[in-house]
Formats: sequence, C-alpha cells, structure tokens
Amino acid sequence: MAHTLPPLPYAYDALEPYISKEIMTLHHTKHHQTYVNSLNAAEAAYAKASTPKERIALQAALKFNGGGHINHSLFWTNLAPSKSEGKGNGGVLAAGPLSDAIVKAFGTLDNLKKEFNATTAGIQGSGWGWLGYNPSTKLLEVVTTANQDPLLTHVPIIGVDIWEHAFYLQYKNVKADYLNAIWSVINFEEAEKRLLEATSTSKL
Ligand SMILES: [Fe+2]
Repeated sequence: MAHTLPPLPYAYDALEPYISKEIMTLHHTKHHQTYVNSLNAAEAAYAKASTPKERIALQAALKFNGGGHINHSLFWTNLAPSKSEGKGNGGVLAAGPLSDAIVKAFGTLDNLKKEFNATTAGIQGSGWGWLGYNPSTKLLEVVTTANQDPLLTHVPIIGVDIWEHAFYLQYKNVKADYLNAIWSVINFEEAEKRLLEATSTSKL
C-alpha cells in the first residue's frame, strides 16, 4: 500500500512567528512529499527486484526516504501553535507524567532545553535532535541521528529537524536562534502521549 503525505494538524501560518508560513509550506508540500514519493518508488522497485544484489542496491533509498517520511510525520505532530501568541498550547508543559520525567532526568525544563540545544547544535551536517525515552534506563535522554536516520535506540518523544530546509529561509545560518524559537511551538501534550505509550509498552 502506497504511503501518503499526512495533512498538517494546523494551518501553514499557525506556527508564526517562530516558524514562517513559507518554511512550513515548502517543508510539508515539497520536502516531505518528495520523501513519500521516493519511498513509494523504492518500495515498488524492491517488490519487483528478483536478486539479492538488486534488493541490496535499494537499501540506501529505503532508509533515507523511509526515515524522512517517519521523522517528518513525527515532527508535524510534535509542534503546535504557540500559547505565547494566544494561538494554542504550543510551548506549555503542564504538570503531569512528562513534566515529572523531565525533572527526574534533567532537573528542570530549562536544563533540558539547554542540553537539547547544545547537543543538537553540534550535529555536523543534517540530522535530527531528539528527546527520547530509553527503555533500558527508563529515562528521558537527548540523542541525535544523522541524515534522515530514524531514532531506533529510543522511543521518540520530541524530534527536531536540523536540516537547513527546516530553518534557513528564516534563521539563515543561525541554528541556535531556530533551536531557541522552536520551544515556543513544541506540543508537550503530544510528547506526553508518546511517553505514556512508551512506558506502558515497556511494562509488558
Ligand atoms: Fe525536514
């Protein structure tokens, strides 16, 4: 079954002023759509491949475009219109299990933001910054992945796209400003939902 581009759960201009309408439109309709199209093409070619060599030749395309589709699908839903702009609940961490887990792992939300931004700013080239749940330690941890690699070692709770297409039109080369701004549109309610799913699964 072919993969399709998931609709954004908000308007293209809903994350302004933190992420511009222009970035959101291009990012969703062009970049993510291309990952979806290329993943479908790679899967169709894989289904037709008749030798191990042909299948091995498709691994890179499957990983890159499959990862791009998975990561962007997570990214759109872990953003929300900002509370500080009176548009939604983005950027608000309410008391609850996620807040407790953040305090347990980082002490404060500000400490998490500092560690996340410093670690993520250090990615060389393109990649993703993650707040992930480590099922072994049962703690939240900041991790990164390169290129479009999906997060496999942890359950993704919050993912931030560090490809230049995610910020360059608005923030130019100043990745730190993008990383500071994005916390105003993080959907902590969605993040808490992911944490609860992750912790209930790990109890099985
Ligand atoms: Fe992206």
